Amino acid sequence: MFTETIEEPDKKPGKLEDYVFRKPDASDGANVHELVARSKPLLPNSTYCNLLQCTHFADTCVVAETDDGKLAGWTSAYILPKQPNVLFVWQIAVDESARGKGLARKMLAELLNRDACEDVQFIETTVTPENDAAWKMFSRFAYRRRWKTEQFILFDGRIHFSGEHTDEHLLRIGPFNRDQVDEVLDS
Ligand SMILES: CC(C)(COP(=O)(O)OP(=O)(O)OC[C@H]1O[C@@H](n2cnc3c(N)ncnc32)[C@H](O)[C@@H]1OP(=O)(O)O)[C@@H](O)C(=O)NCCC(=O)NCCS
Repeated sequence: MFTETIEEPDKKPGKLEDYVFRKPDASDGANVHELVARSKPLLPNSTYCNLLQCTHFADTCVVAETDDGKLAGWTSAYILPKQPNVLFVWQIAVDESARGKGLARKMLAELLNRDACEDVQFIETTVTPENDAAWKMFSRFAYRRRWKTEQFILFDGRIHFSGEHTDEHLLRIGPFNRDQVDEVLDS
């Protein structure tokens, strides 16, 4: 009997364990810029801005790279200047080839585990209403830990963006404390 074996294409090679998560430095700036630029619907910032994130804000930013050093994920964040218990997540981008493996989730967990975030009790971010992937990713992150979420419009499309951009909703996750972060780091 003739049997044909059709090999399934491996659309998503590599496992989460194959990626390295670390703080960025200036040598990452240009690659970060390219990754964000091809990660629609994110709006790219200037390379200069990415370089500042990679240097001045390195303690609260994460790069994820393959074992041969290719950039696969990026998270920029900072502690709110007047609210040291709030980590504001600016952008998360995962290269299309690396999506669905838990990279975004792991970058957030990595951030919360840093010394720079030891006083953090809330994550805040803004998400546009139509960015389903982002809503799902942040909601799942909070739900897995049973952390509360709330949301409201932070920047109104008409008032703050002169109608050129949709509303940006603020999503707040928390409060949580350091012990809870440690307990659920791998969840
Ligand atoms: C949104 C984005 C960062 C998700 O990255 P990712 O590494 O694929 O996400 P993860 O694999 O860590 O997924 C975390 C959770 O979110 C869910 N999720 C992620 N993307 C999803 C999607 N498109 N649809 C449904 N659920 C999704 C996953 O199923 C997972 O749930 P689980 O914890 O129950 O397993 C990625 O799709 C991306 O870079 N998009 C373009 C840029 C962007 O929109 N960024 C938004 C944040 S500012």
